[in-house]
Amino acid sequence: MKRFLIAPSILSADFSRLGEDTKKVLDAGADVIHFDVMDNHYVPNLTMGPMFCKALRDYGIKASIDVHLMVSPVDELIPAFAKAGASNISIHPEATQHLDRSLQLIQDHGCTAGVVLNPATPLTYLDYVLDKVDIILLMGVNPGFGGQSFIPHTLTKIRQVRERINQTGREIRLEVDGGVKVENIAEIAQAGADMFVAGSAIFGASDYKTVIDAMRQQLAT
Ligand code: DX5
Ligand code: ZN
Repeated sequence: MKRFLIAPSILSADFSRLGEDTKKVLDAGADVIHFDVMDNHYVPNLTMGPMFCKALRDYGIKASIDVHLMVSPVDELIPAFAKAGASNISIHPEATQHLDRSLQLIQDHGCTAGVVLNPATPLTYLDYVLDKVDIILLMGVNPGFGGQSFIPHTLTKIRQVRERINQTGREIRLEVDGGVKVENIAEIAQAGADMFVAGSAIFGASDYKTVIDAMRQQLAT
């Protein structure tokens, strides 16, 4: 398992040429594509459905696609995204009535499964699902928009989740999403994260490779 994964969020990509921009960020060294799905109900914004995911696959994108579902209800969209080419699907526990069932549904459709915790969501949601999840995604911002600032108390939460993951002995990824930049990625990694979503920091730059390289350099220190 690769130690650190960089997952650009295509929420900040150029939507008028999404396939091209996604390919460009992969060519610049990204490991995974982070795909934010918002429904204007669970979160106050509206983005992409399964057809966009399929369109990226049809365009020739072979990398892992990490689908972050910020929708409620979630279950109807899980098979659709699996069919559209998602590799991982992560869900918010508050967005489903039956977390265990939804995680099982994701895995039954051949994807890895993640649980996402918002800045104010307690860790108790992890209590009975740690044997099932492949990814724990901690939000560094309140979900809905790119370009927000990282909420500092997330660092404490990352440390706590890292401890819990280590206790399981399982290879669960600890992903952090929101406000990740070259300036804070090392601190986030030191707290225990090993997968980093970055939208505005990468797509807001004129040269994606320079930013991704700088992030990897920070991670190597
Ligand atoms: C926020 C999304 C994030 C967002 C991150 O709801 O889940 O993936 O795009 O964007 P930045 O890196 O700009 O904070
Ligand atoms: Zn996200």
